[in-house]
Amino acid sequence: MTRCEVLTQNICEVDADALVVGLFAAPQGDSRESGGQAGNGAAVYTASALEVENATSGAVSRVLATGDFTGARGEIVVIYGPEGVKARRVILAGLGAIDAFNEEAFAEVHRKIAAAARGSSIVLTSEDFIPETRDARWAARTALRVMLFEKTPVKSFKSSARPAPQLESVVWFSEDEAARGELLAALEEGCVCAEAMRIAKNLGDLPPNECTPQHMYETACRLRDAVEGALTGEEAARPAVTVEVMRREDLEKAGMGGILAVGRGSDVEPLLIEFSWWGAADRAAAPIVVVGKGVTFDAGGLNLKPGRSMPEMKYDMSGAAAALALVKMAADLRLPLNVVALAPCAENLPSGRALKPADIIRMGNSMTVEVLNADAEGRLLLADALYRAQRLNPAACVDVATLTGACVVALGTNISGLFCSSSELTAELTAAAESADDPVWPMPMGGRYRELLKSNCADLVNTGNQPHSGASTAATFLQAFAPKCPWAHLDVAGTANTTGADRQSTARPLPLLMEWLLARAQRA
Ligand code: BES
Ligand code: MN
Ligand code: ZN
Repeated sequence: MTRCEVLTQNICEVDADALVVGLFAAPQGDSRESGGQAGNGAAVYTASALEVENATSGAVSRVLATGDFTGARGEIVVIYGPEGVKARRVILAGLGAIDAFNEEAFAEVHRKIAAAARGSSIVLTSEDFIPETRDARWAARTALRVMLFEKTPVKSFKSSARPAPQLESVVWFSEDEAARGELLAALEEGCVCAEAMRIAKNLGDLPPNECTPQHMYETACRLRDAVEGALTGEEAARPAVTVEVMRREDLEKAGMGGILAVGRGSDVEPLLIEFSWWGAADRAAAPIVVVGKGVTFDAGGLNLKPGRSMPEMKYDMSGAAAALALVKMAADLRLPLNVVALAPCAENLPSGRALKPADIIRMGNSMTVEVLNADAEGRLLLADALYRAQRLNPAACVDVATLTGACVVALGTNISGLFCSSSELTAELTAAAESADDPVWPMPMGGRYRELLKSNCADLVNTGNQPHSGASTAATFLQAFAPKCPWAHLDVAGTANTTGADRQSTARPLPLLMEWLLARAQRA
């Protein structure tokens, strides 16, 4: 775990591997004479940058004079061993224009700083550049979350793998002596959030021969044990974290034909995992339920995917991973909320037993579905889990799924699709997304899209028989099974992982879900 401290003076005297200071770009149309107090180069000094400038008799302005650094957003320059500063490096971080400095800029700058930082200890002066609408607690939490996650490597299976260097110590500079306790708590929150993201990322990056439904279940058990091991005294007296699992037999008894159908073609057993944190003062208080799609590999079933797009389908359990990690985060921070993760897990493979296009299955809520495409499997297993969520009487329910390629076509790879019929919940999630720099965009569902899901022999079909509006059609399908509470569906097919040669899990939409829970906990 990273050690965090708050320092209230003399940044230049801290013994550390790096001291980071920020500089804004010169305001537009003012490139000759900068607004900077040092009056040198086209950049605007923050207070800490000026302190370093003065302590080093001009080390910063000498960099600016070369023109190599202008304070543009994302620019990084490292000064080694400057006289007058005890840290072994000073990292100059470009912040971009001051009036454009928002949550996204704050996150991007901290990712760049983390990527550039060598060594294991760092001094941050990020209170010099907090976006206007945010406070120091937000800044401390966000900086730590972003930086520690950036330092998370893809788990390596290379024979020559070496552990990646980590940030072991972070010093947070603040002039607000009275806020020390609050800031330490915020830094700790950032560490916990980064840890949850690591858990989700590691599950996502794991190859599908290791990340099976059973592995997902064992992970939930390990997370529960880790939380329980850390509970002391009164806290430990009542079971605050629980894991339950429904296996094939249980699913059969409960009539969960959707989850069973998806897993039918595989030799591994489908499961429904329920991982919960009971943190509310009242154990019976309505929980927040997060349902995550846990298809540990989506070959497409008998509607086999083309070879090129198949390897990415190891990430098709990212929703489930996010849901499990979210509960771990809630538990680690002892949030005063009841939070339940429901993770339906299965492998979608072709075989002699596999679900056939044209099969009609009966779902947990006893509706019948004509399965026209075995590759539209996510909605089948989510539908049963959503129906199951109803039994928990949720205060709110959010499902997270790498559900449709159509959502990627519509929104690209930086924005997740948000489908929600409650304007309050839409507002909460949109606000959390902004705070977390984990963007979403509201999308339509229901209404006329229902026409596309009509079957002449069953209650629903699982795919519309035309190629348009795939993301909205899928959301409309889920809506038929959603619990009677404020419900939202997040389609993260484009955002949960990157693609190409360096493809890896991003742990999204965990940042937004975590900010949402923190905001809810604040209100509780
Ligand atoms: N897991 C896929 C969706 C997906 C596609 C995720 C691309 C990430 C990247 C999902 O199960 C799927 O196969 N959806 C089909 C639905 C179609 C058959 C109606 C799709 O999007 O093509
Ligand atoms: Mn599929
Ligand atoms: Zn899928």
